[in-house]
Amino acid sequence: MRTEAAALPVERTEGCRIHLADGRVLIDGIASWWTACHGYNHPHIRAEVARQLDIMPHVMLAGLTHAPAENLARRLARLLPGDLDHVFFSDSGSVAVEIALKMALQYWINRGATGRRQFVGFKAAYHGDTLGAMAVSDAEEGMHRAFARALPPQHLLDLPRDAASLAALDDDFLNANAGSLAGMIVEPLVQGAGGMIFHDAAVLRRLRDLADRHGLLLIFDEIFTGFGRTGRMFAMEEAGVVPDILTLSKALTGGTLALAATVANRKVFGAFLADEPSAALMHGPTFMGNPLACAAANASLDLFEREPRLEQVAAIERQLARELETCRALPGVKDVRVKGAIGVVELARLDDVEELRRRFVAADAWIRPFGRVVYLTPSFTIAPDELTQLTDAIRRVLAG
Ligand SMILES: Cc1ncc(COP(=O)(O)O)c(C=O)c1O
Repeated sequence: MRTEAAALPVERTEGCRIHLADGRVLIDGIASWWTACHGYNHPHIRAEVARQLDIMPHVMLAGLTHAPAENLARRLARLLPGDLDHVFFSDSGSVAVEIALKMALQYWINRGATGRRQFVGFKAAYHGDTLGAMAVSDAEEGMHRAFARALPPQHLLDLPRDAASLAALDDDFLNANAGSLAGMIVEPLVQGAGGMIFHDAAVLRRLRDLADRHGLLLIFDEIFTGFGRTGRMFAMEEAGVVPDILTLSKALTGGTLALAATVANRKVFGAFLADEPSAALMHGPTFMGNPLACAAANASLDLFEREPRLEQVAAIERQLARELETCRALPGVKDVRVKGAIGVVELARLDDVEELRRRFVAADAWIRPFGRVVYLTPSFTIAPDELTQLTDAIRRVLAG
């Protein structure tokens, strides 16, 4: 608490701008942790949330149901590929991951395979800050090192990027251990908070194949990548593979209210469709399926239908690639990479992250480097000149 820089008081947000209480206006380069995909304060989302506020801000979603949650579940099932048809709502990404892990564990318990208790996660993964999510994240890369020995042990392995890592996972590890595993969990195409590290679609196809051959459930965590961020509506579409369980959050409500979803395919749902109540998934967050949050999510899906979001992402990708490329020649820059509306400048080392953050604010840019990466994940509605102000700020600040 002594080392953290004082937080900047915000008065209001608008479009891609953050208005500070002291009168300064920052261009937002990260869309409030990758959530505000339509920009801040979109009138359609505000109107739909206000309408829902008049009718019913909240009612419990157990024994009772309501149209905003029912509509949202139906729309998500229609939008998602394959038979990802069964939606379980919760209130944050980490909880959606906990539910996915519990679903996978109980899938096997309900089928009488009680020894399948562990998961495969991948190096550099980040799946959230709760205990189960931390256990399948990379403690070395991430923020969880202090807890590493207190967490249920899982297997953190190399992604199968090439023949050698595929053989290590398939022949060496899964052949020996598949019988004790419930499933594998991965962030498709981009590992976000673990360092904005990309992999190609073939990795996901290999994981689907391995999961099928070794009889494991495959979980895709699209909490960061879902809703257009990597260029398709969902990152998995680029690989043409569908997981057994999927997690969504962040941009689900257009970044306005807390909501998450864990979506199961028919096979997983089938393991819970039993005559014994003990087969039920006993998980019930108090605010699951909050009607205001569901109204915001339905309004966000309207905007994806009515406005050219994916074309905007493609234009952002082209502009980021063009403008960030010039950073490659700067001293200390190790790599520049772009995927959809994600632009990354990776440094060889970053010793004083707070100083770098201060210099971005001084340049009227809200950019929050972490680890060794400086990154942009702007709203999809950002204007080209606003995006140029952000890439200029990165170039000027890194040039010293
Ligand atoms: C891929 C991924 N999974 C899970 C989470 C956790 O979500 P939340 O912060 O809403 O708990 C995050 C958050 O950054 C994430 O990027």
